[in-house]
Amino acid sequence: MEEREISQAVIRRLPRYYRYLGELLANDVERISSNDLSKRMHVTASQIRQDLNNFGGFGQQGYGYNVKYLHTEIGKILGLDVNHNFIIIGAGNLGQALANYAAFENSGFILKGIFDVNPRLEGVTIRGVPIRMMEELKEFIAENNIEIAVLTIPKTKAIEVAEMLSDTGIKGIWNFAHTDLHLPENIIVENVHLAESLMRLSYEVGRYDEEHKDI
Ligand code: NAI
Repeated sequence: MEEREISQAVIRRLPRYYRYLGELLANDVERISSNDLSKRMHVTASQIRQDLNNFGGFGQQGYGYNVKYLHTEIGKILGLDVNHNFIIIGAGNLGQALANYAAFENSGFILKGIFDVNPRLEGVTIRGVPIRMMEELKEFIAENNIEIAVLTIPKTKAIEVAEMLSDTGIKGIWNFAHTDLHLPENIIVENVHLAESLMRLSYEVGRYDEEHKDI
C-alpha cells in the first residue's frame, strides 16, 4: 500500500474503526458499505469515506468495504500486526487492574513483567506474572525485549522513573501518572487521563440539562 501522511485526527479515529471492523469480522461480515458502517458507528458516511480514502480507497462503488482487508490494513498502520512486549511499573490499584485485563493480548500487547518498590508485593503473581522489585528493572527490559512501559506510580515518582527508563531501549511510555514527562524524542509518551474524560462528560451532561431545562 502507498504510504501517505495521515493526519493526527484520522489516526486518533483509527482504533475505533479497528474495533468496529473487528466486531464485524467476528460476526462473519465480509463487506460493509460506508452507509451501514456510518449507522453502526454514529459517524457520517462522508467522514468514513474521507477517513478511509486516506489508505488508498479500500471501498469500491457498489461493493462497499472489504472488512477483513480494511481491518488488516488499519491494524498494520496501528502497528498491531506484530506483538509488543510491555511492563507495568507500579502494582497498586490501577497497575493491578491493568495487569488483570487479559484482552490487551488480543491486540498483541503482551504483559511480560510488573514492577514495584513495595517489598510486600514481591513475588505476588497476577495472571501468572510475578511482581518484581525495581532493582531488576533494567536487566529485565534488556533481556525481554520490552518496548512499552506503563507508568501507574505516584506522580511524584514518575519523572524519576521515566528518566531511569530513558536509556533502557524502551520505545514508548503509557503514562497514567498526572505529570508531564519530558523525554528524548525517541521515547514516545501517551498520556491517559481518565479524569479529563469524566470532565468532558460532566460538561456534556451540564450542556444537555441547560438545553432541555424549559422542555
Ligand atoms: P496506588 O497507591 O494503589 O499504587 C501505586 C503503586 O506504585 C504502589 O504499589 C507503590 O508501591 C508503587 N510505587 C511507588 N513508587 C514507586 C516507584 N518509584 N517505582 C515503582 N513503583 C512505585 O495508586 P493507584 O490508585 O494505583 O494510582 C497509581 C497512579 O495512577 C497515581 O499516580 C494516580 O494518580 C494515577 N491514576 C491515574 C489515572 C488516570 O486516568 N490517568 C486514574 C487513576 C489513577
